[in-house]
Amino acid sequence: MKEIKVNHLKVGDILAGSICCDHSYKLLLNKGTVITAEHLNKLKKYNYYGLCLVAEERDVAGVRLDLLNQLGNDKIKRAYLDMFVISKSIFENLEKGNPINIELAKETVDVVVEQIMDSSNIVLQLAAVHLVDDYTLSHMINVALYSGALAKCLNYSIQDIKDICFSGLLHDVGKAKIPKEILRKPDSLTPEEFSITKKHAEQGYQILCQEELVNDRVRQVALQHHERGDGSGYPYGLHHQEITLFSRLIAIADVYDALTSDRCYRGRVLPHESAEILMADCTLNRLDTELVKAFLKYIILYPLGTRVILSDGRLAQVIKVHADFPLRPVLEILEDDTVEGGHMAGIVDMISEPTIFIKQILS
Ligand SMILES: [Fe+2]
Repeated sequence: MKEIKVNHLKVGDILAGSICCDHSYKLLLNKGTVITAEHLNKLKKYNYYGLCLVAEERDVAGVRLDLLNQLGNDKIKRAYLDMFVISKSIFENLEKGNPINIELAKETVDVVVEQIMDSSNIVLQLAAVHLVDDYTLSHMINVALYSGALAKCLNYSIQDIKDICFSGLLHDVGKAKIPKEILRKPDSLTPEEFSITKKHAEQGYQILCQEELVNDRVRQVALQHHERGDGSGYPYGLHHQEITLFSRLIAIADVYDALTSDRCYRGRVLPHESAEILMADCTLNRLDTELVKAFLKYIILYPLGTRVILSDGRLAQVIKVHADFPLRPVLEILEDDTVEGGHMAGIVDMISEPTIFIKQILS
């Protein structure tokens, strides 16, 4: 980030620190705000000409800002970028053995939860499209978004939703202590490497036990999120009733995001196939069936950009998802074999085409 004079701010800049009025300390613009012409007018109106912090490209390098701009409103964009910046800082500081700013992470989660309460559908969409290149950071953010949105859909209390979202963000902090060569290994892990990776659960718990602002429910998630109801998980091989509710919930978001993400050793599994894998884990008593059913009801099966084959054979791409009808997205036709000559572009809103359905998801 860099410090600049406020009158040098321009539309599109992202504030890396809040701007408060010099005299009254009134908050003028929040950290993370993406500057618009209205914001510039507001600063002029308050006669504010001080300094401010703006994010530089490298602060948000690795985030697909084009897609983020397309999907979210300013508040959601701010919440998402805050999560990215704080996840990155937590990981980098832990790797270097420096203290981590848990207070800021907690504040960030509060803002994210506000957005989940307002529009969980957009939040789920943000998780589904994978906006961050780095898997570890992307996974921390996505698990927080998925699990927070699920908790909201289950009508949990605000405090529970905050704790669950916070647990999602921190569940894998122990990975900062695992060698990068192992975490990023493109081949299968050896048994020794796998047992080193498994230590991240206990290491995460120990890291969080040193943080006063983290409560025990959140710490237990770091410790238990790889436990499975049938006793096949780690580190302790606990059974269903011994695993905390929050850990069972985060486990679902964790597995789903891992499956639907590109990994260094395999490509992503398509959303509907991932849903089937989660259900199979329920029949094996590994995951909590009621929670998985609720999760599958709300996740975005057709993220923006998904290419699909329609029931009439046309190849299309998802360009918009309706909040109330997520299974009937708006599509752009990429190829139309049903017309002579083969190609015809066009837009199909599946809500107004009830006889058409998605036959296959390609990517
Ligand atoms: Fe993990």
